[in-house]
Amino acid sequence: MKNLLLFSILILSNMVLKAQTKKSDLDVNDKIDQLVSKLTLEEKAALCSGRDDWSTQPVERLNIPWIWVADGPHGLRRAPATNKAGYGDQLPATCFPTASALSATWNLDMVNKVGQAIGEECQAQNVNVILGPGVNIKRSVLGGRNFEFFSEDPILSGELGAAYINGVQSQGVGTSLKHYTANNVETMRMYNNSNMDNRTLHEIYLTPFEIAVKKAQPWTIMACYNRVQGVYGTQSPYLLTDMLKKEWGFKGIVISDWFAVVNRVEAMKAGMHIEMPRVSGVNDSLVVEAVKNGDLDIAVVDGLVKEILTIVFKAKALEKEGAELNAEKHHAYARQVESEAITLLKNKNQILPVTKEKYKRVAIIGEFASAPRYQGNGSSEVKPTRLDKALDIIKKEYGKDIKISYAQGYKLSDDNDTSLIDEAKKAAADADIALVFAGLPLQYESEGIDRTHINMPVSHNKLISEIAKVQKNTVAVLTNGSAVTMPWINEVDGILETWLGGQAGAGAVADVLFGKINPSGKLAETFPVKLEDTPSFLNFPGEQGEVLYGERIFVGYRYYDEKKIEPLFPFGFGLSYTTFEYSNLKLSAKKTTDKEGVSATVTVKNTGDVKGKEVVQLYVTDNKSTLFRPKKELKKFAKIDLEPGEEKEVTFKLEARDFSCYDGKREMWIAESGEFTISAASSSRDIRLSEVVALQSTQQVPLAFDEYTFFSEYWKNKQTRALLMELVPNWIKGFTGEGKSGYNADFPGFMVDHPMIKYPYITNGEISHAQVMELVEKCKGFTYNP
Ligand code: BGC
Repeated sequence: MKNLLLFSILILSNMVLKAQTKKSDLDVNDKIDQLVSKLTLEEKAALCSGRDDWSTQPVERLNIPWIWVADGPHGLRRAPATNKAGYGDQLPATCFPTASALSATWNLDMVNKVGQAIGEECQAQNVNVILGPGVNIKRSVLGGRNFEFFSEDPILSGELGAAYINGVQSQGVGTSLKHYTANNVETMRMYNNSNMDNRTLHEIYLTPFEIAVKKAQPWTIMACYNRVQGVYGTQSPYLLTDMLKKEWGFKGIVISDWFAVVNRVEAMKAGMHIEMPRVSGVNDSLVVEAVKNGDLDIAVVDGLVKEILTIVFKAKALEKEGAELNAEKHHAYARQVESEAITLLKNKNQILPVTKEKYKRVAIIGEFASAPRYQGNGSSEVKPTRLDKALDIIKKEYGKDIKISYAQGYKLSDDNDTSLIDEAKKAAADADIALVFAGLPLQYESEGIDRTHINMPVSHNKLISEIAKVQKNTVAVLTNGSAVTMPWINEVDGILETWLGGQAGAGAVADVLFGKINPSGKLAETFPVKLEDTPSFLNFPGEQGEVLYGERIFVGYRYYDEKKIEPLFPFGFGLSYTTFEYSNLKLSAKKTTDKEGVSATVTVKNTGDVKGKEVVQLYVTDNKSTLFRPKKELKKFAKIDLEPGEEKEVTFKLEARDFSCYDGKREMWIAESGEFTISAASSSRDIRLSEVVALQSTQQVPLAFDEYTFFSEYWKNKQTRALLMELVPNWIKGFTGEGKSGYNADFPGFMVDHPMIKYPYITNGEISHAQVMELVEKCKGFTYNP
């Protein structure tokens, strides 16, 4: 029976594959239509929920197969069976650096290849869809899952997400873009309402999803636990249908985050396809009942089922028989990736790299060197195929002509125990340089729990300070998934941020410390001096189920720029063992339109004597705008590789959207006419060159006037002013000086800065309420050129 089933699946899958490649999609749709017509209502309801923890529902009598979904994103966490949770007993897979490290590479090609490798591993372990990437914005440094997300910036997050998805999906494995959307706090994550205005939602929290959907078409998207603007993410027609499907053209299916569904019927109406995981049959019965009593249209159910089957058959058709996990190759690649993620934050007097000419005796201090922390806590936890340790690798690969000593420094089992510091000081004093491995232990960063502070353990901070007292050459080598404070920043000469570097991270850390690799990571998130400086400090994690996004669009560097707050290390920052010079920023035009856009070209030269990589960042500033806009916003970036003395030109194309902001009232992106400054930068606080372009907008934008629009606004616009002149000529005359026409009326502010609806009494009855409403109607078709 099982073989027969498999055989049928194969035939059907092949048919689907052939239909996809040779015949038109129409054939596949016809077959799926036929299947849907044969399904009972109960079967349809069941298909819209999982079979168990990690698989979709099959319908054996119709040869409808199931597919396997499993956690990611920085590696595969596959449970031994689809009905097992898979914590601790998951199958080994390559643990790549987590998202906060991947983003520090700013290398789209590299992240794409990580996706490919993970896709290959999914094929080898029969997994059809991996649950990732997570493109949620790091709104607060306290966010418990920051290690699992890319950045505080929507463009960087979206581009990295798209690169990852394209990589995985090139292997015939699907992804689940998560967690859609505004899932930025762990506290009360099952209920919290992300309470924000429309503009903030679009500019910051939807943009990364939009980019990833448009550029990579993930097979699935995961609806979040939380509510967004008062509606559960799993039940929002606005998010799931209007934006995702209609605006962005999403072609895949929406699955719920695990246990995220509250009202399954409403979720299906909104456009959610599959409830995950299967908990019981209760919600399926509710669906059946809702169809029977007319609350849920069967056409809606059929539509969802068809889309589910499209993905299921596609996944089956793309399965690769006999795929193998190339553990060695992927381990080596994981090391390479981490070596581009490591971010050099301080390198006073070129303390790094460690060379045997400079340092004969090296003290390695800190338990992380022998017991690495390499990933975060929670559903993304991968069981690595192996695990490298910095101490071992340094001894083996770099220890030949150097004397290496080691001291534990602190106990990972007890944050407050400082009893090992004296022994560590001895080791440091007896060496020429001390490399202190410190950071955040596992329990400090976890899915489901937000941080309450951003400090490292007392024992780690104290250790670094004390070592620096006895060893002038001290380097802090940090392991953490998100920003930390550094009270000892002025006491040490070197700081190397190594993130959560995955199973091969230790080798990469050694490579960078000893100069085999020139560090090229840059911060994808701002490191604040203190928690109180952070944008959402007053509104995180929210209370009584409400999270007020009070900082609005001023997230991350946008906030620090506006408030002129000096961060500990700014967004986009990272040092190198070489130096880069920027020159010759040229724009393709001095004047342009939103339709044409503009290209910016800049030359970057490696002016040092070792090869290196630079992340070139392009920021756009709207010099004058109607809405309050950030001082600058990242729009483009590129990572380039330069030999000593070599120079390269980098060209970026800026389009309408790169100049636009989202008008929450008109519900559209608007590029206003005016001057924009285009800046080529090495970090958000290191602008190297700027040029100005004048943009002439060709957009025609609805006026969007209503009865609450002020009289003064109606007056400013030519078209509506003419109407006012007809409607209240006498009242206007009262403000017209001698020799002036009505158009030159000189109104005092307090007479005209009122909603139009008040003018029946303000004009002493010259305009009636009905006329105000007629005026509003008339203005509905009016547009203006922004
Ligand atoms: C997490 C998701 C994860 C899912 C399955 C949820 O709790 O939020 O990111 O994919 O569990 O483990």
